[in-house]
Amino acid sequence: MYHLKWPKLSAATLVLVLYWQAVLGSVLSPYKNPWTGSRRRNVNLDEEGWQEAPCGTNTTYRDSGLQQLVASLNSSHNRRRQFIPQQTYTFNVVWQVIASNFTYEGGWLPDLYIQAQMEQLNRNYEGTGISWVHTDTVRTISPYWHESIDSSSGTFGLRSAMYHTLKRGGATTMNVYTLGFTKTGINGYSTMPDRFLIAPTLDAVGIRFTTLPLGNTVTHESGHWLGLQHPFDRGCDPGDGVYDTPAQSREIFGCPIGENIDSCPDQPGLDPIHNFMEYTDDSCRTHFTPGQVEFMHTAIQTYRMNAVGEARN
Ligand SMILES: *[C@@H]1O[C@H](CO)[C@@H](O)[C@H](O)[C@H]1NC(C)=O
Ligand SMILES: *[C@@H]1O[C@H](CO)[C@@H](O)[C@H](O)[C@H]1NC(C)=O
Ligand SMILES: *[C@@H]1O[C@H](CO)[C@@H](O)[C@H](O)[C@H]1NC(C)=O
Ligand SMILES: [Zn+2]
Repeated sequence: MYHLKWPKLSAATLVLVLYWQAVLGSVLSPYKNPWTGSRRRNVNLDEEGWQEAPCGTNTTYRDSGLQQLVASLNSSHNRRRQFIPQQTYTFNVVWQVIASNFTYEGGWLPDLYIQAQMEQLNRNYEGTGISWVHTDTVRTISPYWHESIDSSSGTFGLRSAMYHTLKRGGATTMNVYTLGFTKTGINGYSTMPDRFLIAPTLDAVGIRFTTLPLGNTVTHESGHWLGLQHPFDRGCDPGDGVYDTPAQSREIFGCPIGENIDSCPDQPGLDPIHNFMEYTDDSCRTHFTPGQVEFMHTAIQTYRMNAVGEARN
């Protein structure tokens, strides 16, 4: 099953793009400490000392369907507090490895890292009714894409070119592009699911390749891909639209266990530092709440899959 293929390239991207057999990649790649990526502190300080967010997702809802979803789940608050998943959903995952060269430092990830990351992703979703199947790995050598692409508007053209060239599948396939993010402090980004209605080709996740194999970045980004916001995105009120994530008004980094941070003291609960949708360290992030799972199920049925598991597109 060896294939070498030359995809269409826009003239602006003078890069060598080639697919390579996945197995060969893992033979060529030197193995690294699996924790190199995930133990790395998720925060960079720029010249002015601002903390750069580990996630570059724009969580603005563009479709009124998501806003209505927030309102409907909020109003059914008490009745549905004990949400137990009845439905199961399985999504395909296509790993799009975008590397500078054939070394690990250049982003050429070993297959074993991808397998381990898939297992971790599924462990994190245990009990939610949502699972992920690794269907393909597409390997591309492109130093320019590897080094330059991030979630910023300045790289929108590059991102679009990359997606148009490489993206596979429809509404039920999550394409995860592993990138270098050499010019940014973010570890990942995703589109929200309503984006699929407007621009299906742009529906994708990007993550820093060093967050594999055991990081929680892909879990966090998959949460956005299924409609979740950060618990702190809309301040104490209205918040993230999820009834059981305690209100939070600002990002928290690290893992301040025992500090009992409560950025919205007028509302119940301490800031949810252990939630997968936080900016805290990987080792600190352990779960989604039932309300988030309910939200994801509803977003899935609205944008990605119908009740019997057929793709919307
Ligand atoms: C996020 O997306 C919305 C809707 O397209 C846009 O109005 C807003 O400017 C974006 N925010 C950022 C920070 O890019
Ligand atoms: C959720 O319901 C509460 C109480 O009715 C209300 O104050 C809040 O604004 C609602 N939030 C959203 C996002 O609709
Ligand atoms: C591979 O790419 C990485 C990142 O761009 C670079 O640091 C490294 O020197 C390159 N290695 C080779 C052998 O070209
Ligand atoms: Zn995020």
